Amino acid sequence: MAQIGSQATTSQEGHGTKTVFTLNTGDKMPGIGLGTWQSKPNEVREAVKNALQLGYRHIDTALAYGNEAEVGDGIKESGVPRNEIWLTTKLDNPWHKRVPQGIESSLKDLKTDYVDLYLMHWPSSTDPDDLKKHYPDWSFTDTWREMQKLLGTGKVRNIGVSNFEQENLEKLLSHPDTKIIPAVNQVELHPNHPSPKLIEFNKSKGIHSTAYSCLGSTDSPLYKDKTLLELAEKKGKSPQQCMLQWGLQRGTSVIPKSVTTKRIEANFQLDGWELNEEEMQKISNLKDRFKVCGDSWLPEGAKAFFGNDE
Ligand SMILES: NC(=O)c1ccc[n+]([C@@H]2O[C@H](COP(=O)([O-])OP(=O)(O)OC[C@H]3O[C@@H](n4cnc5c(N)ncnc54)[C@H](OP(=O)(O)O)[C@@H]3O)[C@@H](O)[C@H]2O)c1
Repeated sequence: MAQIGSQATTSQEGHGTKTVFTLNTGDKMPGIGLGTWQSKPNEVREAVKNALQLGYRHIDTALAYGNEAEVGDGIKESGVPRNEIWLTTKLDNPWHKRVPQGIESSLKDLKTDYVDLYLMHWPSSTDPDDLKKHYPDWSFTDTWREMQKLLGTGKVRNIGVSNFEQENLEKLLSHPDTKIIPAVNQVELHPNHPSPKLIEFNKSKGIHSTAYSCLGSTDSPLYKDKTLLELAEKKGKSPQQCMLQWGLQRGTSVIPKSVTTKRIEANFQLDGWELNEEEMQKISNLKDRFKVCGDSWLPEGAKAFFGNDE
């Protein structure tokens, strides 16, 4: 584990679907994974199974998605040995005071005895008895203190955060109870929300950035972006493949969600080609800006986004 005060670093090797990120713990995380948010019952089991059989070795889920049980079924049905799969799940906001119970619930549903990465889903400790309320006597630094204890149990191999911008990361890293530097910060990253400043900040602290909504999420406006469409056509690739390659080449892991077999397959065709510097720049400089996930739904007293991570 990377202790506070140590020189934590991350690194990247390989290309396309063979991209691997070495986290500050020394563990190696496959660069591309399958996302599962909004994947409906009866769809997600098949999606996970198909993805693993097609070669994916990284699955991203969360207690809040309500689909961990099916994700676990998909893993089992794929026939791929558990130790060949990188499995990430997340602690839900109303479980911040019940970290040991939160991981137990996930492990039971996922039908596994450990996860590779356990993330605090949001910097928000919600009262489970009233989801509109934030605990007055608890902060995400308390949650992190409890998450650190999981490392000694064998139930989680790495711990990290999600939806943390620089303000909250600084608060976390400077807190006296914080002994372990998060291995990963999973945040929204796509060409219309590229956040280079936040990625650089994460890197400077030895924290790897994972890109969620890396295609722009459901009904992505990016699929209509002229510059991206032209570039993809010239390249003989789909806009989605170009966005995934762009994400990997800029040093972030990517976790595209799909429940459509053809798309799951196409999103994994990233080998034997890459984007040159000019193409990378073009995608980095698309004009439009939009954000899929806001924080206005969090209870008063919690804030995730400060609008200055560009
Ligand atoms: N930590 C967090 O707070 C957080 C927040 C959001 C997301 N995430 C994670 O990140 C993952 C990805 O983000 P996301 O689900 O928001 O969105 P995304 O992966 O950017 O986009 C998913 C959408 O794109 C479609 N799609 C996928 N591949 C396609 C292709 N090749 N051609 C056309 N359409 C395609 C999917 O449709 P079909 O499924 O119908 O094929 C779905 O509608 C999530 O599933 C979740 O695991 C985490």
